[in-house]
Amino acid sequence: MDIRNIVILTGAGVSAESGLATFRGPDGLWEGHRVEDVCTPEAFARDPALVHAFYDARRAKLGSVEPNAAHRALARLDGQWPGDLLLVTQNVDDLHERAGSKRLIHMHGELKSGWCLACGERFRWEAAMGEQSSCPSCGSVGGVRPDIVWFGEMPYQMDRIEEAIRRCDLFVSIGTSGAVYPAAGFVQTARYCGARTLEMNLEPSLGSYLFDESRTGPASELVPRWVDDLLS
Ligand code: OAD
Ligand code: ZN
Repeated sequence: MDIRNIVILTGAGVSAESGLATFRGPDGLWEGHRVEDVCTPEAFARDPALVHAFYDARRAKLGSVEPNAAHRALARLDGQWPGDLLLVTQNVDDLHERAGSKRLIHMHGELKSGWCLACGERFRWEAAMGEQSSCPSCGSVGGVRPDIVWFGEMPYQMDRIEEAIRRCDLFVSIGTSGAVYPAAGFVQTARYCGARTLEMNLEPSLGSYLFDESRTGPASELVPRWVDDLLS
């Protein structure tokens, strides 16, 4: 089959070998909290200090990790692929862009972005964030939150993502457990629209049976091999 348009979905597994914890692995708890108990608007309303601490720790950790071979291979593919390509990541880290990926959407937001609930502006944010943080745009204090899509909130750029999936010839899912919708449902749209579907994950994901092909192993090995094949 001729492949021209590609959509790639990544999850926490692609960054695991860089040293960032996945959400649902054995190390998936954060100080005894399940992610579902921290990553919600309700948790932020109830205990903003806890939620800020969760994201501050993850943002700070970015300074000590590097993109791995999987991120680099995907950036190489982006640079060399002549057809349409869209990398949709559920990850809020910045490893794809640091590896050089350009055609990239952060559907769940970014650790290094802040969002002011008072004025609606979004802005780059590198430091710790807290209840006393003031908005660089309107100056108000208390309304700054992580620019992260929490459970119950709408992921970003869904129109662009859906459109790319409907037009793609190949849909590839890498390092995601398939536990969180709408991302977990992308494979069904891709299939329905006639795309070939491939999964690469350490173990079969929850939606493995929906893919034409499922390869198991570490992303740092599987992804460069797949990119080499595609570009040769
Ligand atoms: P999960 O932690 O649910 O799943 C990570 C997947 O990666 C698992 O299936 C692992 O087996 C696999 N994995 C681990 N190490 C790997 C490696 N070296 N190579 C390949 N695969 C590996 O993470 P996500 O599916 O990304 O949402 O989670 C989805 C969303 O749930 C996240 O974006 C986050 C979370 O709540 C938000 O922050 C909004
Ligand atoms: Zn503001």
